[in-house]
Amino acid sequence: MTRTDETPATPLPAPRACPYAPPAFYTETRASGSPRRGRLWDGSEPWLVAGYDQVQQVLRDPRVGADVTEPGFPNTSAAQPQVEGGMFFRKDGDEHMPIRRILNPDFTAKRAQAWRPRIEELVDEAIEAMLDQPRPLDLVRHFALPIPTGAICELLGVDLVDSPIVTRAAHLATDLAAPTEDKVAAMHELNEVLARYAKQKQQQPDDRLLSRLVNRHLPSGELTFEQVVRLAQLVIGAGHETTANMLSLGVLALIRDEEQRVELLSDPDTYAATCAEEMLRYWTIVQTEPRRCALADLEVGGRLIKAGEGIICSLAAANRDPAVFAAPEELDVTRAERRHLAFGHGVHQCLGQNLARVELQAALPRLFQRLPELRLAVPEDQLRFRDSHIVYGLHELPVTW
Ligand code: HEM
Repeated sequence: MTRTDETPATPLPAPRACPYAPPAFYTETRASGSPRRGRLWDGSEPWLVAGYDQVQQVLRDPRVGADVTEPGFPNTSAAQPQVEGGMFFRKDGDEHMPIRRILNPDFTAKRAQAWRPRIEELVDEAIEAMLDQPRPLDLVRHFALPIPTGAICELLGVDLVDSPIVTRAAHLATDLAAPTEDKVAAMHELNEVLARYAKQKQQQPDDRLLSRLVNRHLPSGELTFEQVVRLAQLVIGAGHETTANMLSLGVLALIRDEEQRVELLSDPDTYAATCAEEMLRYWTIVQTEPRRCALADLEVGGRLIKAGEGIICSLAAANRDPAVFAAPEELDVTRAERRHLAFGHGVHQCLGQNLARVELQAALPRLFQRLPELRLAVPEDQLRFRDSHIVYGLHELPVTW
């Protein structure tokens, strides 16, 4: 029977008591068996869905939409409708899938594997550059950021690896506390650069994604020039902060846990892949997404979610659901388990997951093979975690060896 009683709303994103575990509100919601109300900055009270099966149910349900312009859609910051409006990933059906199909060919598992040699080079280049730096150094800046930025710029066909414009735009886009004007200004700045690149590709085509968008999908009428630029912006933003934070958190986990590090390095050919999956599950960095809106009444875990009400899924709580994962709180780099939801589920499941996987697989073992003495350069309790960002991670990771 549908339950209509509601527990009082808790502010979202909920605080973490421990940096290595999801917020208690999320795991308690999962344990309660039903969604619970959270409260956002604007006073709205979306449902938090946290059980593994319930998160899958919501993300598969056609009565649940991803359109940011839907009244009742939960915004985790004031800037979101302005920054994300018009983007295909915040659309449903015919406004989402055709664009997704245009991008898919560049992000298949096969294409990601074809990029592996170049990604391995990027990893080695980052490590070589680290060796030239004075110690201690910030691993976020010198390792975690350059690898995904390098990979996504290669894939797009733009040379923006060291660009502060990219770093600023990507960082501000995921910072829930940043002022709207700063976010919008950074986005415009990046778009101007990308528009210049797109025009250049019209004159000098190549075999990379931006060139294909502007020379095939623009003339065919499938995309406007503005859409091309915004897709390039999205791919850079999504492919940059996410993987970078996964890399720095993955390194931290391996520094903290010698047993897991030894296990990984005992057979990297086997464990690079399981380690990447386990890091994705254990950290589940996307902390205030996926966000959705009920387009019709539906029942989740015995709770009635009414049409027009917002929903936020906790992938982190789902990925530690004891009904699905044995000893879910434990990090086990040999765990052969790909059922985690770190990349989401359903039609909006992460476009870049194959690329991210290859980056994690290439980078994590290699770093510890090259720098076996890698360790923290500050006491662990001084590390600053990104609690108020869409994507969890570390502001910096001071290391030495
Ligand atoms: C969607 C996580 C890397 C591009 C998503 C979603 C999640 C996610 C959870 C689903 C959001 C939703 O359902 O609303 C991650 C994680 C990454 C990562 C954990 C790295 C470890 C990347 C990379 C790209 C990328 C490298 C490169 C292009 C996208 C795009 C979407 C998306 C475009 C929207 C897809 C759609 O709506 O059809 N990602 N992502 N992501 N991701 Fe990723």
